[in-house]
Amino acid sequence: MARPKIYVCRPLPEKALALLRGRTEMRLWEQNEIPPPREVLLREVADIDGLLSLLTDRVDGELLDRAPRLRVVSNYAVGFDNIDVPAATQHGVVVTNTPGVLTETVADFAMTLILATARRVVEADKYTRANLWRSWEPMLFLGQDVHGATLGLIGLGRIGSAVARRARGFNMRILYHDVIRREDLEGELGIEYRPFEEVLREADFVSVHVPLMPETRHLIGREQLKMMKRTAVLVNTARGPIVDTLALAEALREGWIWAAGLDVFEKEPIEPDHPLLALDNVIVVPHIASASIETRTKMAVMAAENLLAVLEGRRPPNPVNPEVLAGGRP
Ligand code: GLV
Ligand code: GLV
Repeated sequence: MARPKIYVCRPLPEKALALLRGRTEMRLWEQNEIPPPREVLLREVADIDGLLSLLTDRVDGELLDRAPRLRVVSNYAVGFDNIDVPAATQHGVVVTNTPGVLTETVADFAMTLILATARRVVEADKYTRANLWRSWEPMLFLGQDVHGATLGLIGLGRIGSAVARRARGFNMRILYHDVIRREDLEGELGIEYRPFEEVLREADFVSVHVPLMPETRHLIGREQLKMMKRTAVLVNTARGPIVDTLALAEALREGWIWAAGLDVFEKEPIEPDHPLLALDNVIVVPHIASASIETRTKMAVMAAENLLAVLEGRRPPNPVNPEVLAGGRP
């Protein structure tokens, strides 16, 4: 039997590529730094059975129309806002993602941004390297305490819960909001449910852990930033468009809030002239919250296994639109 044809949108950890190489006819976009341009992707999908996509690859109706043989889109990410899932379902294409394996690594990084922002680590590093350090000073780089402060979690999925577990170790008081109240977890995690606006008003640190959907786009804008404490820190490791970044730049400049730590942006990479980049009270990093060696390898293997399962007629471990599996391609 002919091996299924697949296209992989970026070099992945070798362990995953080795899995795929043995069991498929694989074509690979070989450049690490940039995704396949749209026209390349539209051309490449014409004869493939499976696509291994990244969050930088838009999979929409147009692409699906050009891929008559396509049976599976395996996304190398837990988030899948780059994929038009209803369109995939309509085309009978299974979509899969990589939940679970990156939870703890992303939660580590949310804590990293909370701590680094509160204690001004990046500013202080730049200052030290610039040879500006003259002596021990009582008022040098005063920050906010994390221990004993109130953490407000927006979203209590796997990642939000893992951040709560860490925050307990810092003796933080933890409030959360989610569209689904999780009373089952409240006792275990020592957290309290609050309406969204109350979390914003009461928290010293607000950390965002919801997926990007129409309902969460600009969930945090001018009005919400104005509700937050003037001493508050906002951390976003979820998706950029959940926060209105122009409003955030204004809030940071005008002192509506104290600082922000951002792993994700409305446009990635962030535009070099974005007003956020002119501010000292924001830490910006290039969407790396899941970027540990071990986790990126696990994500890649999981994405490869999801892809192979569908192509080999098995149930994939992590379907996003499982209804397609029952129906098959129309
Ligand atoms: C990364 O942002 C992911 O969704 O896995
Ligand atoms: C994502 O994995 C989440 O549920 O937070």
